[in-house]
Amino acid sequence: MDTTIQKLVHTFGSLADLGQEVASSGVFDDMVRTSLHLLLGTLAIRRGAVVEYDPVSGALSCRATWGLSERFCTPTTLDKLDRETLVRESGGISLFDEVPPVVFPEQAEDLREQGIEIIMPMLVRGELTGLVLLGGKASGDELTNEDLEILRAMVRHISVGVHTHRLMGQLESRAEENRRIYEELHTIYRDTVRAFAAAIDIKDKYTQGHSERVGKYSEIIAREMGWNEEEVEGIAIAGYLHDVGKLVVERDIINAPYRIDAKASNELNRHPAAGYEILSPIHHPYADIPLMARHHHERMDGRGYPDGLTGEQIPLGARIVTLADSFDAMTTDRPYRKRRGFTDVLEDLRLSTGKQFDPRVVVAFCKALCKELEGQTKERRVLKLLGKNYIETEQILPLLKQLISELDSDKPPVAAAGV
Ligand SMILES: [Fe+2]
Repeated sequence: MDTTIQKLVHTFGSLADLGQEVASSGVFDDMVRTSLHLLLGTLAIRRGAVVEYDPVSGALSCRATWGLSERFCTPTTLDKLDRETLVRESGGISLFDEVPPVVFPEQAEDLREQGIEIIMPMLVRGELTGLVLLGGKASGDELTNEDLEILRAMVRHISVGVHTHRLMGQLESRAEENRRIYEELHTIYRDTVRAFAAAIDIKDKYTQGHSERVGKYSEIIAREMGWNEEEVEGIAIAGYLHDVGKLVVERDIINAPYRIDAKASNELNRHPAAGYEILSPIHHPYADIPLMARHHHERMDGRGYPDGLTGEQIPLGARIVTLADSFDAMTTDRPYRKRRGFTDVLEDLRLSTGKQFDPRVVVAFCKALCKELEGQTKERRVLKLLGKNYIETEQILPLLKQLISELDSDKPPVAAAGV
């Protein structure tokens, strides 16, 4: 290969690389147009076109033209015979000198009238990617062997560019398809979980909507604690499902309109371990959901159940669900009592922090609520869950801030709880 060809090959070599970068933009068409222009200029040919071939549909589509009249149109499909001929004739071929024409017999006359004399197949690894259609040299001379060599080298690079562009397009559409399937599965999973949560809550007629609210409170706390979106989604699911074990507890015990006795209480207390058994065999996209269900009645001081874990032994997710669960219990009516006033709820949180609740979790929740009361957040998620006329901002905000300052320190949990 002489230096002229080497230089041109170098110039065109970048086309294949660029094909990768501009897979989905109009820049690729500009690049093909420029390549065609260079090719024509180099060989002193006045007109030409680059036509892409779609091997799936058999369709031909024009990517670039130069020097052709507006009425120029290429054949729109390629039949099997044409394709085989083009693949076999991978060199420069002047098809319309032959009688009858080798390819496009029906359109040959039209193409010749439009000034097209040469058809170069664009091939990559024996696969047809398109055609370069060219007029004759401006001088009227025949193409020399050197011209043909330049032509083949340039066409090869345009071919690789078009091929790479197509591959990238396919990869992109596959990635798009995968994204869509993932989204669908994700939605199905979420809907299934919510259906489960509704089933749990239907069994417990006094706490309807409890699971969903626990999911939402857990999500709010985790987000305030700086968890990433995936972790936040995981904890919301754990919140929805934390009481799934109640499905195996007798309905009478769950729905007892009075405080239950010790025996019934033992039966009810089976539900975290039962929940763990139910959730463990299921593959969840988020880790630890079964553990969060198992440990949502553990306490920081070790007096919880089913395993009597203490402090950091309890998974952080379970500590979040514990607070969300208790907070909802305190702030909603039960058959044997009305919900507590919010000042009482705050006092209860203060007294139970370090014994039952993790101070960091309580602080995060209080901070999230503070932001809502101060109007720092657009959405008022906690306030919406609590309903209207429950919290008096002017009264609660100072108490909330005081509680945060008491708990939000490096003091050990028990001291921080003030007990
Ligand atoms: Fe529970």
